[in-house]
Formats: sequence, structure tokens, C-alpha cells
Amino acid sequence: MKDHGKITAGLAALTAAAAFGVSAPAIQAVGSQIWLPRPAATTVEPAVLNLAAAQEAVGAELFRRQCVACHGAKGAGDGPAAPVLTPPPADLTDAKRMGEVIDEDLAKIIADGKGSMPAFSKLLKSAQLDALVRYVRSLSAGEGSAKGDSEER
Ligand code: HEC
Repeated sequence: MKDHGKITAGLAALTAAAAFGVSAPAIQAVGSQIWLPRPAATTVEPAVLNLAAAQEAVGAELFRRQCVACHGAKGAGDGPAAPVLTPPPADLTDAKRMGEVIDEDLAKIIADGKGSMPAFSKLLKSAQLDALVRYVRSLSAGEGSAKGDSEER
């Protein structure tokens, strides 16, 4: 099992390396940790970071198509349809509110709908729900630490 994990990690590294245009021999695999030759200053393992970014991009596209009409382009609850909805669409940029909801509940709300929000379970596959959850998370996290001090509101 453990060895299988290593092989999978190795393949992930090769795939990530191809995506980064990095040649395979430049990769060092130490145990299950993979190090790609990227500029340092991150504690997140680069291959994982790459997959997370890809998932977030998928979520962003789905959000643009399915959610902005109500939630607005940045998720602040101010889409074109917002004025006619009571209660209004949730402000997904509200870090305090979002901090109180776990990922499973976010996925469930998106799948089952809430109030005047329609259910998306028939339209979206579970991987797409996961991508949306990741993207919705990013709306209240901001880019990097750019919105990190929004806590003081
Ligand atoms: C037709 C308008 C509409 C669309 C489209 C819509 N929503 Fe909503 N959404 C709402 C409304 C209204 C609420 C608040 C419901 C309530 O509180 O009763 C809400 C609530 C939410 C919440 C709950 C937040 C919380 O604090 O509990 C999440 C998460 C959410 N929407 C995500 C999404 C995502 C992701 C999409 C796209 C897949 C989406 N919504 C599409 C109207 C919409």
C-alpha cells in the first residue's frame, strides 16, 4: 500500500513536472515528499499546490456560469438577480460567516439549494461541487494575504 502511494506520488510529480515544463531528472522524491525546483518561500508542497490551483480554476469557471447571476462576480451577494431575492443571496466573501461553515456543508448547500437558491445536484458532478467549494473558499480568503487583514472589520 505504502509503495503504491509512492508510485502514485511519483506519477503526480511527473505530471506536475510536465505541466511546469520541468524535465523529469530535476525532480527529487524523498519518501512521499516531492520537491520540484521552484522558488522557495512556500510551506505547501508544489505538486499539491498545482492541483489545488487547477481545481480552483475549474470552480471559478463554474461559478461564473452558474452562480454570478445571484451572488455577483466576486461572490458578494450582489448579482443582477439579487434585488428580487428574499432573503438575499449570501455574501460569500464574508470571512466570518464562511469560517463557520465546513466544506461538507458548503457542498451540501450547493447540491441541495437553500431558500430561493436552486439545487445543483442534478447539474453538477461531485468533483465539480468540490471545485466550487474550493473556489467559494477563495472568495473569502482573498488572493494570498491581500485580504488577510479584513479580519479587523
Ligand atoms: C437564483 C439565485 C442563486 C443562484 C443561481 C445561486 N445561489 Fe447561492 N444562494 C442564493 C440565496 C438567495 C442564498 C441564501 C439562502 C438563504 O439564506 O435562505 C444562497 C446561499 C448560498 C450559500 C450559503 C452561504 C451561507 O452562508 O450559508 C452558498 C455557499 C451558495 N449560495 C453558493 C452558491 C453557488 C456555489 C452557486 C452556483 C453553483 C449558487 N450559490 C447559485 C441564491 C442563489
